[in-house]
Amino acid sequence: MHLLSPSLLSADFGNLQRDIEMLNESAADWLHVDVMDGMFVPNISFGQPVVKHIKKHARKPLDVHLMILDPGRYINDFRDAGADILTVHYEACTHLDRTLHAIKDAGMKAGVVLNPHTPVVLLEDTVQLCDMVLLMSVNPGFGGQKFIENTYSKVRQLKTLCDRKNPGCLIEVDGGVNTTNAPLLYEAGADVLVAGNAVFKSANPQQTIIELKR
Ligand code: DX5
Ligand code: ZN
Repeated sequence: MHLLSPSLLSADFGNLQRDIEMLNESAADWLHVDVMDGMFVPNISFGQPVVKHIKKHARKPLDVHLMILDPGRYINDFRDAGADILTVHYEACTHLDRTLHAIKDAGMKAGVVLNPHTPVVLLEDTVQLCDMVLLMSVNPGFGGQKFIENTYSKVRQLKTLCDRKNPGCLIEVDGGVNTTNAPLLYEAGADVLVAGNAVFKSANPQQTIIELKR
């Protein structure tokens, strides 16, 4: 699968509705929504009230990436705000198995996110509960960072693990994705790519989305 989930973190927050409408009319598959708490990551972005407004205008599924400590506390809030897919960090959950079950029980697709330092092998006992695994290809917290090359090998390892334990599980990659590394990531086994700066800082975002999906 070659899906693209543009990250609204790089959109113009003063013109969010305009940017969402641009994505509605584009070849984008999902909208990636980055929630940051200033604790799990150094940056603060936005919370449920803003997600609710994004949902009002979006005509594509919301792929909500929680970069917050103890995300299990907020599952129903993000469901109510309109999340379709909810991903939580491996590093932020004490009881990951419980949290994944709670996300599914709340009616959303559930995903786990791994930071660049977290090995794929740690998913051995949770991948069967995941609709998706997201591999960070930068240290989370900011848009516009440089892609970490080790990600290709992690995508291949994850693909092998999914083939063995949960073939339906999607593989998503987030951080520093551009038109040069996108084809290589799909080739390595990625199904969904997130792109912030590559889309929103380009002269023609809709055309760039098409190029990123090739
Ligand atoms: C980083 C976020 C990303 C970010 C990606 O912490 O999780 O989703 O918006 O932005 P780019 O594509 O600019 O690296
Ligand atoms: Zn993200």
